[in-house]
Amino acid sequence: MATKRRLFSTFRCLQHENPLGLPRSGTPPSFPRRRGLPEKRKIRDVKKVIAVSSAKGGVGKSTIAVNLALSFARRGIRTGILDTDIFGPSIPTLLNLSGEPRLDENNCLIPLTNYGLKSMSMGYLLPQPPLSESIPDPTHPDRQPMDTTPISWRGLMVTKAMHQLLHSVSWGPLDVLFLDLPPGTGDVQLTINQEILLDGAVIVSTPQDIALRDAVRGFGMFQRMDVPVLGMVRNMAFFACPECGHQTKIFSHGLHKHEHSHGQKGEEDWGVLAECQRLGVDFLGDIPLDARVCEDADRGVPTVVAEEGENEGQSVRRKAFMDVAEKVAKKVGIEW
Ligand SMILES: Nc1ncnc2c1ncn2[C@@H]1O[C@H](COP(=O)(O)OP(=O)(O)O)[C@@H](O)[C@H]1O
Ligand SMILES: [Mg+2]
Repeated sequence: MATKRRLFSTFRCLQHENPLGLPRSGTPPSFPRRRGLPEKRKIRDVKKVIAVSSAKGGVGKSTIAVNLALSFARRGIRTGILDTDIFGPSIPTLLNLSGEPRLDENNCLIPLTNYGLKSMSMGYLLPQPPLSESIPDPTHPDRQPMDTTPISWRGLMVTKAMHQLLHSVSWGPLDVLFLDLPPGTGDVQLTINQEILLDGAVIVSTPQDIALRDAVRGFGMFQRMDVPVLGMVRNMAFFACPECGHQTKIFSHGLHKHEHSHGQKGEEDWGVLAECQRLGVDFLGDIPLDARVCEDADRGVPTVVAEEGENEGQSVRRKAFMDVAEKVAKKVGIEW
């Protein structure tokens, strides 16, 4: 009886000590070294990669990304834009491009080009829905119907698609590639962070506190990723009346109420500018809230292109984008 109990307990004990059947010698077993995360690398043939980011959607990130990229491209700098917003690709609309990209001899996607800017987007790769399934727009029967196909992918699919967009596009030599990021800090951002060496990030915020809070979170993300934050852009900073040119700050700029009642202009506020100062981030400039910025974007001729030409010197909208672009160029060492 006693032997049996002892045996039993020995057995139990052994089971516990050696649950994985490892050798019981004094030296610990050696494990084959697991490969860690994929190493960060540069995108082939691309000198500088700049991410345009915001933590919120709808603050004008794609509008700013495409206008910045076009500012570079129109100055003869070899530029591309990669739309990494897999669930809401906007670059095809903004550049008035569609159709399936061709593959080169290495099975890499060939970017689509408009206005001298190369582009790649998930929007080009998704199958177009048959016309019978799409909902025509009754007010604009001539316009291409909007796509009703939902894109609902799990993390793994997102990562796979991102992988292809990051590594299998034949950009040809580029001086700079802009990444239009989706909002937030999700799978796409993580994949980019793990796989790509970014030269800098531009953070877009609107003046309101609620957007700014998220922008600050986005700043934290890049800081943790060791990506230099080039600065913050304040979009929809003010509304310039097309009739009289008067500037109205539609969104709260974080000004104290009594400052308003004293009629102070309030050039300085504790919103975006103060936050930039607190974080040690450069303020790159204001983009006005202007119906033409939106109209031009919708019709696929972004401001920087739409207002190019004879009177471009008078276009405050175009100048706003170009000024930000110039600052960004200088910060990453691109000759302007
Ligand atoms: N400065 C601006 N003035 C007027 N409309 C703007 C401005 N910036 C963006 N928009 C409009 O706001 C909407 C959202 O912009 P978008 O660039 O798609 O945002 P995000 O990429 O951050 O989701 C679009 O209709 C765009 O045309
Ligand atoms: Mg967007």
